Amino acid sequence: MPSSSPANDSQIIRAARFTAGHDDEDGLSQEDYIQRELKYNCHNYHPIPVVLARGEGVHLWDTDGRRYYDFLSAYSAVNQGHSHPKILKALVDQASVLTLTSRAFYNDVLGEYAEKITALFGYDKVLPMNTGVEANETACKLARRWGYRVKKIPDNEAVIVFAEGNFCGRTMAAISASTDPVSYAGFGPYMPGFHIIPYNNLTALEEACQHPNVCAFIVEPIQGEAGIIVPDEGYLKGVREICTKYNVLFIADEIQTGLGRTGRRLCCDHEGVRPDIITLGKALSGGIMPVSAVLADNEVMLTIKPGEHGSTYGGNPLACRVALAALDVLENEHLAARADKLGHRLREELKANLPSDIVTCVRGKGLMNAIVIAPQYDAWDVCIRLKDNGLLAKPTHGDIIRLAPPLIMTDEELSECVEIIKKTIFSYKK
Ligand SMILES: Cc1ncc(COP(=O)(O)O)c(C=O)c1O
Repeated sequence: MPSSSPANDSQIIRAARFTAGHDDEDGLSQEDYIQRELKYNCHNYHPIPVVLARGEGVHLWDTDGRRYYDFLSAYSAVNQGHSHPKILKALVDQASVLTLTSRAFYNDVLGEYAEKITALFGYDKVLPMNTGVEANETACKLARRWGYRVKKIPDNEAVIVFAEGNFCGRTMAAISASTDPVSYAGFGPYMPGFHIIPYNNLTALEEACQHPNVCAFIVEPIQGEAGIIVPDEGYLKGVREICTKYNVLFIADEIQTGLGRTGRRLCCDHEGVRPDIITLGKALSGGIMPVSAVLADNEVMLTIKPGEHGSTYGGNPLACRVALAALDVLENEHLAARADKLGHRLREELKANLPSDIVTCVRGKGLMNAIVIAPQYDAWDVCIRLKDNGLLAKPTHGDIIRLAPPLIMTDEELSECVEIIKKTIFSYKK
């Protein structure tokens, strides 16, 4: 267990809950919380059995006051760490002034945010949305519209190419692109005009792009939900070349890989490529609220006219202020560089110290990493033992455990986490 006094943490959590008006909850066990959630909430997730009540920096605390290292970061939404004071301040300050106007009117923050994010990433325009999946849906709409208006694809015949193993989110369009039956099975009929090719395969991409109705290829620079699948070096460069050659839009889904996570501002920066459209989400608010964005140049963005796309909450002043602060933190605290440095260390130390008969592979970039557990062991059980040792992680696809802490982690904290992981894995040797 990391050094922390459970009694003190427990008191802090009780005090926080009391302030928030939850004093009536005092005395509930974690099992009580879990059973109530299971009774009244849709069973659309299978959480690790821990009930969290507080987060700060790289740490989370459960309702009993136990402290954990967060090695999921809310699927990379909390790159800046939990409740970063500067982002929190932006939230509170703006919330007390103006939160939502809808886009029926102008607000005095959206322009500042749009100017900042477009300058930072080098695109003409941004289209603000809320969740990651909305950003991807928006990118698909932009790609189809560009296909009809600019590439002159015949009406209703545009094709978007996706990579096998992708995770675009949970809407009907997103699951129509999915190759994971857990995502799509039983929800048909599916969106037409989607074509799937193998990931990390430039020959297949070139073949697909030769069809004149293809308007876009959408791809994650590293596949996150598929289990941190890192493509060959040169893949993104190759994607750029093929898309340019066949006049196909290259859309990079950087919702999980972007904003410092892989050791660069964008994962595409590792290969120095500039996609035509970028989708961002998750850490764009530092985990404070849903904020997503689509970035593109005028040739793409201006194909959408007033009334043709939107969202009640997209571009709201609260979200814009929070995103401005979240971007400032990423830049001012050099979090991409931190992720790069810590990621190298994490992979090296795990590769050097973990027994290869239990952990068969350590892979990733920056602080977006995974270990693969040998088939005779159970990754879920490993995560339970990690939890018992003070570190929260979640398995994916049965045998893969993602290791993605907040990027603000210190060297000392990383050392402590490596020890927890080693201790956990070696507990199977006894
Ligand atoms: C690469 C990628 N795209 C899109 C999404 C969907 O984002 P959201 O859950 O915010 O809709 C995710 C979420 O995990 C993701 O990892």
